[in-house]
Amino acid sequence: MKEESLTIPQIYAKGKENMKKAGVDWVYPPGRKLGPSVKANRKYLDSLFFEPKFFDPVDVDTSLTIFGVKLKTPVFCAAITRQPYMSDTSLAEIATGIASTGSMIMLGIGGSADLQSAIDTGAPVVKIVKPYRNTELVYEKVRDAEQRGCIAVGMDIDHFYGLLKGDRVEMAGVFSPQRTEELKQLISQTKLPFIIKGVLSISDAEKAVQLGASAIIVSNHGSGSFDFSVPSMVVLPKIADSVGNKLTVLVDTGFETGNDVFKGLAFSAKAVGFATPLILAWAADGAKGAELLINEATAELRRTMAGAGCPNLSTIKRSIIIQVP
Ligand SMILES: Cc1cc2nc3c(=O)[nH]c(=O)nc-3n(C[C@H](O)[C@H](O)[C@H](O)COP(=O)(O)O)c2cc1C
Repeated sequence: MKEESLTIPQIYAKGKENMKKAGVDWVYPPGRKLGPSVKANRKYLDSLFFEPKFFDPVDVDTSLTIFGVKLKTPVFCAAITRQPYMSDTSLAEIATGIASTGSMIMLGIGGSADLQSAIDTGAPVVKIVKPYRNTELVYEKVRDAEQRGCIAVGMDIDHFYGLLKGDRVEMAGVFSPQRTEELKQLISQTKLPFIIKGVLSISDAEKAVQLGASAIIVSNHGSGSFDFSVPSMVVLPKIADSVGNKLTVLVDTGFETGNDVFKGLAFSAKAVGFATPLILAWAADGAKGAELLINEATAELRRTMAGAGCPNLSTIKRSIIIQVP
């Protein structure tokens, strides 16, 4: 008899168990548990339901094109980076899983070796550069991403004050707030689509448009940035409305299932990022775990799309969603 594959909750449970066995009780950032914005996002996502249309079932297509690349699923790997509990092959293992699902992966802070090992798997790779105080370093990282064949590049503007480690802020001197004039120049000088990650206000979204960015990621950076920044899913619709189709809107923070992805898309995101879930899936079963999670989440999305009468991603509209307080 064929062995049944793990379900999404089983993937997470196995990942947590394996991490616990390895003596690790956090995923990201180092030494931190779930922050208030992540918990609030979870609660909000769980309050959203969809209106079914069960008659006359539709065939469902989950494919899309982002940054000129055709993807089979709108579930992507949000920016990740090597953590102390990972080895120097771990990111490539996750990228291998991503490559076989026809999705894309974003990598954050880290060197060229990690970037190259992900690119070598054949997965479409996006590089998210830190908001370094040293502008030369920002240009160096962007050029490195261009030369190695990334499909896009970006910056997590919300990390301007440093990195959270436990309750402390570290590396505050290494990063700095970015001025729009400087970013505009950087964006005009790269041939790659540029993404601004960490947008949570209409004001920043409109500035991203003015800067010439190709995309924004509405994101709380998980529990890795400000504890009480407004949850990404709560601000997503108004941010999406404010920018219209002037740029691509992506979202992350707290998404765990295909149904969560459906809700993110209904609130006008083009695609939805998983970071912590993919780390757990990798901890559960390496590259296969990452592949299984994306495939299971996409299968759940497909089923809900069929149940809601949505033949493709662009037909998942806000009007399908009903909030049950
Ligand atoms: C292991 C790990 C490493 C991360 N490293 C980065 C990084 O270097 N740059 C960045 O912009 N975001 C980084 N993030 C944040 C994610 O991109 C994402 O914004 C956040 O985790 C929320 O998504 P999640 O709830 O699915 O984890 C990291 C997340 C994880 C789990």
